[in-house]
Amino acid sequence: MDSESSSSRASSRQLWESLRNWWREEARENGAAKTLLLLMRKLWSFVRESTPEQRRRRYGDMEYDWEHRVNTTSGTIGWKARLMGLLHSPYQATEADLFQEMMASLPIAFEQFTFVDLGSGKGRTLLMASEYPFRKIIGVELIAELHHAAEENIREYRSATQRCTQIEAVLGNAREFEFPEEPLVLYLFNPLPERALACVIDRLQQSLERAPQPVWIVYQNPLLGRVLDASAAFVRVGGSERYSIYSGKVA
Ligand SMILES: C[S@@+](CC[C@H](N)C(=O)[O-])C[C@H]1O[C@@H](n2cnc3c(N)ncnc32)[C@H](O)[C@@H]1O
Repeated sequence: MDSESSSSRASSRQLWESLRNWWREEARENGAAKTLLLLMRKLWSFVRESTPEQRRRRYGDMEYDWEHRVNTTSGTIGWKARLMGLLHSPYQATEADLFQEMMASLPIAFEQFTFVDLGSGKGRTLLMASEYPFRKIIGVELIAELHHAAEENIREYRSATQRCTQIEAVLGNAREFEFPEEPLVLYLFNPLPERALACVIDRLQQSLERAPQPVWIVYQNPLLGRVLDASAAFVRVGGSERYSIYSGKVA
């Protein structure tokens, strides 16, 4: 069997697994009838998003790729990965200008910190973070197709101004990620639903109780900012209408 068809089978398997897990979780919380309705809505939105016009719109994020000769656009994602995105969190790459603005608002010595992006997609944030002198950069992505694109982007990225080359892309579930016990900048762009995000933040808090470290959270488009606002371990210290910056209380 060639590697293309085996990777296509792997992504079909991942899609069915995702669908099964998604169904189980939603149905437990909302009942089967509501979950079926939600699934129909998602499928309808998938169909609407598949028109040539919507596809062209997704290519609107290509500027970064042209400039850096990488492939982080949401325009070229296969249908299985897009469908999985609807069940989890659709892939959308962070804009370069906004990323720079967010990094500029962190009052830290970058070289002491590890950057972690939970839900790193095709890895654009990992490349952008590598322009800062972070100790290390880690991205965790659930969808194999996006993870493989991130790996390739990391390999291909060439920049005379790159300051960090310790970049690791991990294929896995952000819900299970074990935070390294070291100073962290945690980057979030809505990878998780509310309950899962609350669990991840709780786990981070427990890790900080075991081994206190400075931690900063950069949350782009903070739709679930209430989860962090409610956490005893973090306090919102800045941001704009497009992002929030939280600091760990021990930072
Ligand atoms: C809005 S995109 C952000 C991509 C990237 N962080 C960026 O800013 O360019 C959210 C990403 O989270 C990923 N994701 C969703 N659920 C996840 C999970 N449980 N574990 C890891 N990644 C997940 C999606 O596949 C998607 O790539």
